[in-house]
Amino acid sequence: MALYSEKVMDHFLHPRNVGVIEDADGIGEVGNAKCGDIMKIYMKIDDDIITDVKFETFGCGSAIASSSMATEMIKGKPVSEALELTNKAVAEALDGLPAHKMHCSVLAEEAIKNALEDYQSRKKA
Ligand code: FES
Repeated sequence: MALYSEKVMDHFLHPRNVGVIEDADGIGEVGNAKCGDIMKIYMKIDDDIITDVKFETFGCGSAIASSSMATEMIKGKPVSEALELTNKAVAEALDGLPAHKMHCSVLAEEAIKNALEDYQSRKKA
């Protein structure tokens, strides 16, 4: 069996939502200390709905595929729903990741949570 699913390869080779949102309402950045990979997520949020989301990932193919899939999964969704997105759901949507690559999808979950926390703290300010 191939190590990576077709979906992983597709999102790695043709990542969706790559880029920066200049006037983002929430920005999340996380890194993995072990591999040194970094992921940054930008969100535009209107009335608690994520209207746009972009990412920059300096990392492995699984991290890029996970960010691409995760951003697709939360686009157009309410903040409350995006907060519930787990790395497991992202990996499942990609038709699985090899066990030693699961941590790459954790980066996507954490970056999204981080961006939403940033959004919520800005709202309070
Ligand atoms: Fe670091 Fe994948 S090996 S995120």
